[in-house]
Amino acid sequence: MGAADAQLVTPDQVEVLVSMEPAVLRETEAHKERRNLWFPNDLVRADTNAPAEWDEQIIEVRRAARELPDSVRVAVAVNLLTEEGLPHFHRLIAVHFGESSPWVTWNNMWTAEEDRHGCALRDYVRDARLFEMGALERLQYSYIEAGFDPEWESDPYRLLAYTSLQEKATQISHANTGRTAGTTEPLLRRVLGHLAGDESRHYVFYREMFNEILARDPNRALNSLQKVVSNFSMPGHRIAGFDEMSEVVRRANIFGPRQYQQIVEECLDYWKVSELTGLSGEGNEAQDKLMKVPKRLARMADYVESKSAPRKFRFDFAYDRELTI
Ligand SMILES: [Fe+2]
Ligand SMILES: [Fe+2]
Repeated sequence: MGAADAQLVTPDQVEVLVSMEPAVLRETEAHKERRNLWFPNDLVRADTNAPAEWDEQIIEVRRAARELPDSVRVAVAVNLLTEEGLPHFHRLIAVHFGESSPWVTWNNMWTAEEDRHGCALRDYVRDARLFEMGALERLQYSYIEAGFDPEWESDPYRLLAYTSLQEKATQISHANTGRTAGTTEPLLRRVLGHLAGDESRHYVFYREMFNEILARDPNRALNSLQKVVSNFSMPGHRIAGFDEMSEVVRRANIFGPRQYQQIVEECLDYWKVSELTGLSGEGNEAQDKLMKVPKRLARMADYVESKSAPRKFRFDFAYDRELTI
């Protein structure tokens, strides 16, 4: 890490990140062992050498895709826009890690993997004719143009807490969208299954990194985690119409407060947050607040689910049809 980066993080955080480099190396290697590198063209063929049956298959995919419920269309739109925006998080992550270190190697590899997610999903929606594509492209353009500004306040601990939660959230969102779509159109489930697999491995990496931070600097780590957990929004929260899209996704049982609560619980368990001892006053306070979060999220999930009389929605990318859910 170069001296120029020190202005972005306080010195002791830089020291913590530098001291973690052997762990970053170890977990990057473990990730490469676990992954099976795949490419969008393995899933949605685009070359003249594609077998002749592919042309027939894609006609069948297009036919079946017309039968998909519009709630699936909305979920795929959120997932696609999010994925296409994710490589732009590269910059936000890169500012913390300087020019050359195991962190940079990881970040570059992660960005390359995420980039294929947007590509694979876009190839699919294009070939399956899932959307009113011009409307989706306009939405994507304005989303990226608006830029990204997560509230990390140059705190690398918050970044790593956020990426832990976010990777798990996208894993669940892809997997549940695929499951909902799968009986109608299996290729979509296959594409989303590949994405979900990558996200679960990314989650393992970031969760491990945050664990290393907790072991080295528990008080500040808990404080950062508490801020992220109680103020979490998905990477795509600045997409125009995101609230309505999220509401559809929640009502379709794909992703909402219930799933978020499960993620938080799983992370707090994994990091053994309740068992941490010898904390400072600030650390204790953050720990107490964190341990109350799952119950609060469960109440919130109960509340929104109890008020779910069917609602009407309409999205121009989903052919401006009325969607009741
Ligand atoms: Fe992804
Ligand atoms: Fe990911």
